[in-house]
Amino acid sequence: MRRKVGVIGAGHVGECTAMYLAERNIADVVLVDIIEDMPVGKGLDLSQAGPIRGYDCWVNGSNDFADLKGCEMVVHTAGLPRKPGMSREDLITSNADIIKSCTEKVKEYAPDAMILMVANPLDIMTYHSYKVSGFESNKVFGQAGILDSTRFRCFVAMELGVSMNDVQALVLGGHGDTMVPLPRYTTVGGIPITELIPEDRIQAISDRTRTGGGEIVKLLKTGSAYYAPAAATVQMVDSVLNDRRRVLPLSAHLTGQYGINDLYIGVPAVLGANGVEKVLELDLSSDELGSLQKSAGIYKDMLSVIGY
Ligand code: LAC
Repeated sequence: MRRKVGVIGAGHVGECTAMYLAERNIADVVLVDIIEDMPVGKGLDLSQAGPIRGYDCWVNGSNDFADLKGCEMVVHTAGLPRKPGMSREDLITSNADIIKSCTEKVKEYAPDAMILMVANPLDIMTYHSYKVSGFESNKVFGQAGILDSTRFRCFVAMELGVSMNDVQALVLGGHGDTMVPLPRYTTVGGIPITELIPEDRIQAISDRTRTGGGEIVKLLKTGSAYYAPAAATVQMVDSVLNDRRRVLPLSAHLTGQYGINDLYIGVPAVLGANGVEKVLELDLSSDELGSLQKSAGIYKDMLSVIGY
């Protein structure tokens, strides 16, 4: 039987996620949105591109959450995006209700699915979905670290005038302005960037990475980024469905790792058929660990805004 992935929210991130999933022939997609008929139209359009683009995955749009039945994973993209001048955290109350009602639907119609959260504020919404679903914590996780790291990779490649494919980078912490780019774990063709880029430029690239989402919001004026967020999401779906056990930064539930307890935050993890198979604990310097814990502290406090 064909594998089936649900995508809730047929906005830009949702439609791009569906497109990349189909283009890579990863799974059939059920694209669900409450806006009447719109996801059905997008699904037809994406399916009709298949014969030309060379895929045969179906993208079925729907207004009915019952169509999530049989999905192995559900990607949650529904929620308001930022407007210029807003932080991701400004979306907390408006998106919490959306996440709650959609998670209840996943629980009802796809109780064995894994939930991949993409809505903002990411780490808080992932925790919220974990609590509302009652699913095991390894089966609920959030996309953000790959996105933040790919931005860092791009900026490093631009700085050095080299292929972005040769840059590996690691960004941990919350998906917000307190995220923690780690130059010590960032390499170009295996060479640490600390040997290639002067300290002040690494600082500037790290700062641009931290505010990279906001830079795009400011340029788009009507919403936030979607190509890179969707690409990062699809990398995670692929790692789970094909049990690739890729080592990726993602928002995982911590139970004491890095001195952080009962919180979702960006850390490196092994992602496979069981979802988050293992959180990797790096031997961080005291500065790096301090920044990660500071970021975690902010999100821990923020959980009280939605009643945790
Ligand atoms: C970003 C948003 C989508 O970082 O969180 O682009």
